[in-house]
This record gives sequence, C-alpha cells and structure tokens, in this order.
Amino acid sequence: MKVKMDQRFEDVYWILDGKKQLATKNLVPGQRVYDEVLKRSRGVEYRVWNPYRSKLAAAIYKGLSTFPFKKGSRILYLGIASGTTASHISDIIGNSGVIFGIEIAQRVLRDLLPVAAARKNIVPIMESARRPQNYCWIVPEVDVVYEDVAQPDQASILRRNSDIFLRKRGYAFIAVKSSSIDVTLPPKKVYRQVEREMTSTGKYKLIENIDLSPYDPKHAMIVFRKL
Ligand SMILES: C[S@@+](CC[C@H](N)C(=O)[O-])C[C@H]1O[C@@H](n2cnc3c(N)ncnc32)[C@H](O)[C@@H]1O
Repeated sequence: MKVKMDQRFEDVYWILDGKKQLATKNLVPGQRVYDEVLKRSRGVEYRVWNPYRSKLAAAIYKGLSTFPFKKGSRILYLGIASGTTASHISDIIGNSGVIFGIEIAQRVLRDLLPVAAARKNIVPIMESARRPQNYCWIVPEVDVVYEDVAQPDQASILRRNSDIFLRKRGYAFIAVKSSSIDVTLPPKKVYRQVEREMTSTGKYKLIENIDLSPYDPKHAMIVFRKL
C-alpha cells in the first residue's frame, strides 16, 4: 500500500492499494467516527474519506480547487450532524485549529458528543443556524463558513452567518440540495438562485460550483470568497 499527499491540498492523502482512495491522518488513532475504513502505513493511521458519505470528499473527487482547510484554521460548520465530514476537517486542521459546529437536532448532536470529547478541536453548539445572535458570544471570526443544512432558506442562512463571522478574504462553502430549495426547478436554476443570493450583496465573489453527481445527485458544492 502506498500513501501520497494530495498535490494541491496539504494534509489530504490518497491511498493507493489497487484502487485510489481519499483519506486523512487520524487525529485520534484507533478511533472510528462512522463506519470508515482505517488503514496503517509506516506507523501512521489514515481514515478513508468516503465521497458517498461526505459532500466535501465528493467535491474533492469532482475536482474542487479551493481548499482553505489548513492546520490552525477556524471553521464555523452549520449543520454538523454527528460529525462525519467535520471529523475529516478536524484531522486536517489539527489541534491548533477549531470547528464550531452548529446543529439543531438533539439526536444527532448526542452522537457528536463522544466525537467532540475525543477530538479537542470540535465545539458542539445546539442551536439553529437561523439564530446566529444566540452563538455570537462564543464563535469568533472564522476563516471558513461551511454549511450543509438542506433547508429551503439555506442560502440566506449562509449569507447571514458569513456577514457576521467570516473574515475578509475568507471562504463560504455551501452544499446545496436543490430539492430542498425548489423541487419543481431544474437543479442548475436553483444553484443560480443561491449564487445570486450571495453575490448580489456585492460582498461575496463566486469562486466555483461543483456538481456532486454521481456521489450526491442533484447536489452542488458552491464556494464564495468574502471581498
Ligand atoms: C445533510 S445533514 C449534515 C451532514 C453533515 N454535514 C456531514 O456531512 O457530516 C444536515 C444537518 O443539518 C441540520 N440542520 C437542519 N436545519 C438546521 C438549522 N436550522 N440549524 C442547524 N442545523 C440544522 C440537520 O439536523 C442535519 O443534521
């Protein structure tokens, strides 16, 4: 088995053993977060990052070129759920970084708690991402706002949180589920609506829009930069 660091993204790896699989270095060796496969090479443990379970992994497989997740990054994660994607971001940003994870559903947040207890860089916050005023006392300025809430008003949730928490030149990522916004419109039209909601304010520039099929049909990862 061979392991190579991605040519563009630091701390993102490719495991080559017959097939080519995305992976991150396990920040908490021996511990799984979901049912991911663990692989060891030269005394280092890696967690295979499944593009069918994580839209950020799917975006990397589909050619994402913006990747501001680095050692020490501060992330506001809206809709962190039980931490599937966040755990891989946690591996990448290391103990000098931090993820503030907003989640409204008590049941999934309960599953996140042991993950956050083992990983010191995840701060779970039970709150609605529609009420940033309720967590602005705990969340500082961040480098990245990452949103995956599958709600009809997901674009306005992203804009309001990015207006408050995102630093200038920071990045806003949104995993858009087109059917959550408008099931009657073709996905591309829904993506344009989301892009307009952010760019029409003059505060954000569209950087890229990645269609996530076949991993997540009718989903896109759209990336903006704060001007
Ligand atoms: C598709 S799941 C997120 C999966 C997760 N991002 C991952 O990749 O591991 C969407 C999550 O958003 C949460 N959610 C929905 N509306 C929300 C809101 N207003 N505020 C915070 N979380 C919300 C749901 O409870 C659910 O856990």
